[in-house]
Amino acid sequence: MKRKIAIVGAGNVGATCAQRVLERGLADVALVDVVDGLAAGKALDLSQAAPLEGHACRITGSSSYDIIRGAQVVVVTAGMARKPGMSRSDLLSANAKIVGSIIPQVKANCPDAVLITVTNPLDTMTYLSWKLTGFGPERVIGMAGVLDSARLRFFVAEKLGISVQDVDAMVMGGHGDTMVPLPRYTTVNGIPLPELLPAAEVDALMQRTRDGGAEVVKLLKTGSAFYAPASSAADMAQAILNDEHRLLPACVRLSGQYGLKDVFCGVPVRLGAKGVEKIVELPLTAAEKSALNASAEAVRQDMQAVDALT
Ligand code: NAI
Ligand code: 2OP
Repeated sequence: MKRKIAIVGAGNVGATCAQRVLERGLADVALVDVVDGLAAGKALDLSQAAPLEGHACRITGSSSYDIIRGAQVVVVTAGMARKPGMSRSDLLSANAKIVGSIIPQVKANCPDAVLITVTNPLDTMTYLSWKLTGFGPERVIGMAGVLDSARLRFFVAEKLGISVQDVDAMVMGGHGDTMVPLPRYTTVNGIPLPELLPAAEVDALMQRTRDGGAEVVKLLKTGSAFYAPASSAADMAQAILNDEHRLLPACVRLSGQYGLKDVFCGVPVRLGAKGVEKIVELPLTAAEKSALNASAEAVRQDMQAVDALT
C-alpha cells in the first residue's frame, strides 16, 4: 500500500512538516489549506525541489479535502498562531471553530487514520478532535512533548557544551506555562542532569523550557516557532508509519494513569502503527506528581471552556 500523510494547514508548521516528510522519503503528502491556491502553490514548489533533494515522494495541495482520502496519518496544523503577549489559551475560541470545521472532513475521508493534532491550545484541541472524530483515544494524539523535550535537550547540550545527541529529556503535562520538565529524567548518556549542574542552573533550564515557545515568539514578532515543531510532528508521523514503537512524550487521553481520568495531558507513550500502544507510567516524586496534577487541572479548565463553546 502506498504510504500517505495528510497535512491540514499549509502555513509555517504544515508546509515545513510536509517538507520534512518528503525529504525523509517517508510518504506521499496531501496538503490542504482553506486559502485558495496556498496548499497547491506550496505543493508545486516542494515537488520542484524533489529532483534536487533526491526523493521519490509526491505531494499534492488543494483547498478541497478529496485529496486526503486514504491517508494513514493526518496532521492538523490549521489555526491561528501566537503573537507576542498572547498565551496559547488565548487562541482557544478561534481555533476551536477552525478545528471544528476540519475534523468532520478528516473523519469522512480518513476513517481509519491516526490523527496528530498540532493546533494550539494543544491539549484542548486534541480533546476536541477526539470528541468530534469519535475515534478510539489511541488514534488521537497531540504533539507537544516531543517539541518541549527537544528544546530542553538543546538547552542542556548548549549549557554543558556537549552534543545534543548525548542528551535525552522528558517533559510531561500540558503544553502551556504549567508544563512539567523533569530534571531526574533528563540525562546525559545516562547521567541524570542534577548530577552535572547545581540546582539553580537546572531550575533555570527547566524555566527556559517552559518559556521555549514564548522566547521564539518574542524574537519572530509575527508568529510562533515552526522548524522544531515540524520536525516533532514528522517524528511522530514516522513512528506511526514505520511502526517504530518509539517511546515519546505525547498528549493523550488519560483513563486513570497517574491518577488522572478523562483529561488530555502529555505523558510518555509507546507509538506504533495503531497509534498509542501503551501509556507508560513513570515513578514520580510527590513534587513531580503535584506539578502534573496542577498542569492537568489547567488543561481540564480549557476543556470545559471548549465544551461550553461547542
Ligand atoms: P500559520 O498561520 O503559519 O498557518 C496556519 C494555517 O492554517 C494558515 O495557512 C491558514 O490559512 C490555515 N487555516 C486556517 N483555517 C483553516 C481551515 N479552516 N482549514 C484549513 N486551513 C486553515 O501558523 P503555524 O505557525 O503553522 O501554526 C499553526 C498552529 O500550530 C497554531 O495554532 C500554532 O499555535 C500551533 N503550534 C503548535 C505547536 C505545538 O507544539 N503543538 C508548535 C507550533 C505551532
Ligand atoms: C510553541 O511551543 C507555539 O506552541 C508553540 O512554539
